[in-house]
Amino acid sequence: MSPLESTLTRASGIGSGLTIRGPVPERSAELWRRRQAHEYELEHPRWDWLNDGEQRNWGAFTHYVVGAGLWMTGLSGRARANANSPRLRELEFAFGHLPASFDGLRVLHMSDLHFIREPGFAERIRDLAAAVDADVCVMTGDYRRADFGPSDRAIQGMATVLEGIETPYGVYGILGNHDSHVVVEPYEAMGVTMLMNQRVVLELEGERIWIAGVDDRHAYGCDDFERACGGIPSGEFLLMLAHSPETIREAAQHGASLYLCGHSHGGQICLPGGWPILHNSRSVSRRYARGVWTYGNMRGFTTNGLGTTSLHVRLNCPPEAALITLRRRNA
Ligand SMILES: [Fe+2]
Repeated sequence: MSPLESTLTRASGIGSGLTIRGPVPERSAELWRRRQAHEYELEHPRWDWLNDGEQRNWGAFTHYVVGAGLWMTGLSGRARANANSPRLRELEFAFGHLPASFDGLRVLHMSDLHFIREPGFAERIRDLAAAVDADVCVMTGDYRRADFGPSDRAIQGMATVLEGIETPYGVYGILGNHDSHVVVEPYEAMGVTMLMNQRVVLELEGERIWIAGVDDRHAYGCDDFERACGGIPSGEFLLMLAHSPETIREAAQHGASLYLCGHSHGGQICLPGGWPILHNSRSVSRRYARGVWTYGNMRGFTTNGLGTTSLHVRLNCPPEAALITLRRRNA
């Protein structure tokens, strides 16, 4: 893990002298064991009647059916080119309770990188990030393409992408449903603060905001909001990182101000107008599966993400990183 306390400065942007404390609390040994037990089950499935190397059973079957459909409609080339054309999306969120010192904080949000054996894939994301002037980078999970097997490409890909990220107030990550715990240590060695039901506090000019991250709900059921957010005083600004939109209720109950997630890929293959056919997010309405949304007093953003699963294709749903500027709204 990153040092428990560090004071960092930057020449421009929001004020200098920001102090980061955390992450806290200690990781839960019980949740850590539970995650690893689920990972073991994924590595040793009961049945494996079709395996394309990255998906098994119906997932792999769908892969071939969708691939055939795209080929027959002549859309394969365009869909593949779309998947290899990441863009930067710029957003602004205003909050009455954002401390004045943090007005203008820029957050680079990346998700679902799903590092693939595709020439130039990680390098394109690296170059996109290198052109962005952000204060903080957050990554909301799914670095491995398959949800089983080795994580080598997820580790190598992250090393490449981090070459382009120079956010002075850190890079914070969580795990998704495709990730193995084995990436946590190498990512931390690369300077990423992995938040496993943990939080950090950023302090500047006597004011502070919190960044908390939970482990994956979708496949692992290892999110623990009480652990991640339980010590945060009510009414303070909380940036919540979760892999999927499936935990918005718990986040709202724990006082999250802005909820950032991915997982759905925005649908990946969408109808014209960006209407997702599938969003793979159980227990939440389709409206939270893509783009900007509001849930009670909590604002949220579900990114299309940067990578793909099944086929390396996208239609009406471009891959994206987001540059999010936080603003203080005066009453
Ligand atoms: Fe996911």
